[in-house]
Amino acid sequence: MQNKGYPTNWLYDLKQRNNIVSVIGKYIHLDKKGENYWACCPFHNEKTPSFAVNEDEGYYHCFGCKESGDVISFIMKYESCDFMEAVKILAKNANMEIPEFVGEKEIIQQKKTKEIILNLLEDAYKHYQENLYAKEAVPAQNYIKKRGFNKHDLEDFKIGYSINRNEIIDYLTKKKFTIAQMLEAGLIKTKNNINYDVQAGRLVFPIFNSFNECIGFSSRLLENADFAKYINTADTLVFKKGKVVFGINLVKKLKQQSGLDRIIVVEGQIDVIAMHRAGFKSTVACMGTALTKENAHELKKLSNNITLCFDGDYAGVKATIKSIDILKEEGFNILVVALPGGHDPDEIIKEKGKEYLKNLIDNALPVTDYLINVELQNYDLSKADEKGEFATAVLKHISKIGSNSEEEPYLDKLRDLTSIPIDILRRDLDKIKNGQVIIKNNEKSAETVLITRENGNIRAIKFILSSLIFRKEFVDKKIDYRKLLPKYNEIIDKAEEGIKISSYYDYFDVDNMPMLKDCINLDFSEYKGREKQYFQESVWNLAYQELLNKRNKIIEEFKNCQSIEQRNSISQQLNIITKAINQKSLEDFYVR
Ligand code: UTP
Ligand code: MN
Repeated sequence: MQNKGYPTNWLYDLKQRNNIVSVIGKYIHLDKKGENYWACCPFHNEKTPSFAVNEDEGYYHCFGCKESGDVISFIMKYESCDFMEAVKILAKNANMEIPEFVGEKEIIQQKKTKEIILNLLEDAYKHYQENLYAKEAVPAQNYIKKRGFNKHDLEDFKIGYSINRNEIIDYLTKKKFTIAQMLEAGLIKTKNNINYDVQAGRLVFPIFNSFNECIGFSSRLLENADFAKYINTADTLVFKKGKVVFGINLVKKLKQQSGLDRIIVVEGQIDVIAMHRAGFKSTVACMGTALTKENAHELKKLSNNITLCFDGDYAGVKATIKSIDILKEEGFNILVVALPGGHDPDEIIKEKGKEYLKNLIDNALPVTDYLINVELQNYDLSKADEKGEFATAVLKHISKIGSNSEEEPYLDKLRDLTSIPIDILRRDLDKIKNGQVIIKNNEKSAETVLITRENGNIRAIKFILSSLIFRKEFVDKKIDYRKLLPKYNEIIDKAEEGIKISSYYDYFDVDNMPMLKDCINLDFSEYKGREKQYFQESVWNLAYQELLNKRNKIIEEFKNCQSIEQRNSISQQLNIITKAINQKSLEDFYVR
């Protein structure tokens, strides 16, 4: 039998030979408590552990963010890779040979292409690196000197040079790559039927993913120019601009080797290089100015703490504000460095030295302080009307803090800045907050009530399914739960078979089945010993609703029917169903 393109037995073996505790234990620290191993969840921000790994059943789940899965899905999520890549990692781990993938032709083809592109890009960046020492590379060497790159920078960041429009094409052709593959890798383009190296004549910065695979390039003109100073690889099978974090490979390695307290995010790759040279080894950059949600997800795997250190110009401030919103939503602890004089980190280090920058980074501001400083620049407080506008703008930021005790110092600060009395500020703050509350209240319509009841049902269904999986002692053997929950027959079948939890991930696409996912994640301890009672109540509540529906239908039939025989038969049915309802009995309708 095949499963997601691999023989089921082989996948089973793969999971057997990759003990979930030792695999996850390589990524995060696990503590054994009771029957589970515990850690702070790597998938959301938390201070006390709610991430549990169950060794016997071969699965993990987080009581906080409800993330769950088997050893394969852990790798997929932690390493943000797909199923095949996760399988590859685990097979390597267990020294297992990977059988041929049997699946949709397109997927196999895409996989192969991806592999070829990665190989091609690896050859390309290494060749560009060698080019840097060729006799044609004098302009590049001069530029490198001018920018102050040293030998370590060149080696750490694998910096290279593209000599001209054809050289790399000739080189890769000799290595048996085709023009089509070079195009697909985004390395070359075609214009007027002529293929040319996109990077031609530029200093080349390879971009690596967190697995240290080269996925594309950013390359810089050797001259100063405002137009197309940098060219980045266009989106390809392996390169997605919004996802790329320059330097992530180095920071991931740093974390594995010596731990990581916080990540510093700057704007440009040149800044990353300058920062690493100056000793700020946990620095990365996002391609294009503001951070994206996808960037945030990548960063989240490495740390919850981020220091934003964008350029000190207008664009940098704008990008900072946008990034703060995204990072906040993803639960990061954020600090912000405001660089003076419109400079970027590279310039600051050159002009004022790394100690100066270290001081700025050590004294980075909490988000609200930073935003107040920005607003201070937007308004002229010597003008009465602008003072009020300034206060409103700042109160809006304060209203987002979400904790009364943390608001206090900012209200004081705002009072000092504007000399507006504190109770007026507080009243305005409440107004802003209430404004939000009113919006929320308006949303609460009849529909919300409906949804709540629906949720009640869903909760009951989840509880029943979860009990069938985990708490077989609740289950009444006479009852056929398939009849009660026909939509979930497949899950119920597996629950009755008593398969291991980790096997649910083989039979079902759990990540796309929120219901099942929640069932696997259900926290019985929330029910404080009333689990069995809640199970029985849930079963009855669902059955009751269904019986009522049935009865209503029968009553309708009764009203419409003409013949006496039919009436008799219907009223008999009606009696049975009414009896079942009154006696709270499942016997007549849900037995096996
Ligand atoms: P900057 O314009 O701030 O460049 O762009 P920089 O980092 O100071 O570079 P140098 O010092 O002039 O060499 C920041 C980032 O924006 C992207 C690049 O990723 C760059 O690192 N960018 C910039 C482009 O993609 N294209 C451009 O033309 C300019
Ligand atoms: Mn710069």
